[in-house]
Amino acid sequence: MQRTYINELVPEKESKIMGWVEKFRDSKYMIFLVVRDISGKIQVTIEKEKMPEIVEALKGTIANSVVSVTGKSVISEYVKMGGVEFIPTKVEVTSHAEALPIMDNANIDNRLDYRWIDLRSERNILIFKIQSCFTNALREFLLNNKFIEIHTPKLIGTASESGSDVFEVKYFDKKAYLAQSPQFYKQMAMAAGFERIFESGPVFRAEQSYTNRHATEFSGFDIEFSYIESFEDVISLEEDLLIYALTKVKQEYGEIIEQVFGTQVIIPTKPFPRMKLADVYSEIVKYGYKPTDEDKLDLSTEAEKLVYKLAKDKFNHEFMFITDYPKDKRAFYHMRKNGVPQGYDLIWRGVEITTGAQREHRYEILKQQAEEKGLGEDVKFYLEFFKYGCPPHGGFGLGLDRIIMLMLNIQSIKEAEFIFRGPNRINP
Ligand code: 4AD
Ligand code: MG
Repeated sequence: MQRTYINELVPEKESKIMGWVEKFRDSKYMIFLVVRDISGKIQVTIEKEKMPEIVEALKGTIANSVVSVTGKSVISEYVKMGGVEFIPTKVEVTSHAEALPIMDNANIDNRLDYRWIDLRSERNILIFKIQSCFTNALREFLLNNKFIEIHTPKLIGTASESGSDVFEVKYFDKKAYLAQSPQFYKQMAMAAGFERIFESGPVFRAEQSYTNRHATEFSGFDIEFSYIESFEDVISLEEDLLIYALTKVKQEYGEIIEQVFGTQVIIPTKPFPRMKLADVYSEIVKYGYKPTDEDKLDLSTEAEKLVYKLAKDKFNHEFMFITDYPKDKRAFYHMRKNGVPQGYDLIWRGVEITTGAQREHRYEILKQQAEEKGLGEDVKFYLEFFKYGCPPHGGFGLGLDRIIMLMLNIQSIKEAEFIFRGPNRINP
């Protein structure tokens, strides 16, 4: 008999369910199991006297074992769980569990040691259903807007962008690196005439950061497109994209997100507010923050947090685009106008979720900007992309794990990633 999902059971119809034993209670005359699958849970009620074979089959079984139960669901006003119970004719234990090595309330690092068990909870599986819905919506929007999905290599021959935070790997008798961004290849797609591309893939950063929003491997969602007139076009696309995807998540999961995570999915309105970095600092000092001159050259962690407050106080908005960073703090490939990088960071709920920009597509200028930053040989192959004709273009990179963490008000990126990777964690 084919397996039926618990939430698709039809009362009185002979069916087979498969799932985890969430609870196991053995009393004098009865056994009660709560069986859970990805769709829901149901109480399985066994009258011991009537069903000696089932009692035998369940001997020694404890919670977290996996069972296959044949029988039928019946409406029963006595059952608390949804007023239905499952009366079995046959129970098979397909996997016996040992007592769990972690408790529900264990700290996150202990839980990560046993991530596969930690992930079994309804809340944790829900995180990934929502993430799946969100990325699917991003993809849907982009495919509907003439974007092509590409897959760029993660093993690369020269350290990209900046040499500092790349992982080195042995590549036969040579050195290779793990890509810390698809940046160069997504721009190559522009030089190849793809016009509009996106990629979802792993991003590696050899950073010794121990914060709630840094990982050494995370999922990036990157976009690049041609024939833009300024980075305002990039911002506008990102606004539309986020509005679309958050709307989808709210439609499908808005209510349950409120119940389980205690937070609302707020659909932002377009345009999102934007401010120049210097203006942000003039405003946030009013909150009592005392940045150093060095701090003011970039957005410090403290400043990022205050940007959230500012966005709400001044614009009644959850997001804010920050522009006009000093060129020393931005990548060499950002186009500059009057020396000002034509790019932005997007801050959501106090955390950077995106860096984006119009790119410099003119070979001579790009080469000079690279040299200025001391990037010679490493970017030589990349500079070649711009020698044989390349349209004006721009794009951005979204940190997916951060977005999910912020959307669900989760405390750490460790919980938003399927498997977290950090300086001290490479297992399981
Ligand atoms: O800001 P980043 O470093 O920008 C780039 O990689 C550019 N090539 C993108 C572009 O198109 N201009 O990374 C993009 C995003 C960040 O805004 C952040 O959301 C996320 O990736 N991110 C991280 N997420 C988790 N852990 C880390 N260590 C991250 N570093 C960046
Ligand atoms: Mg950035």
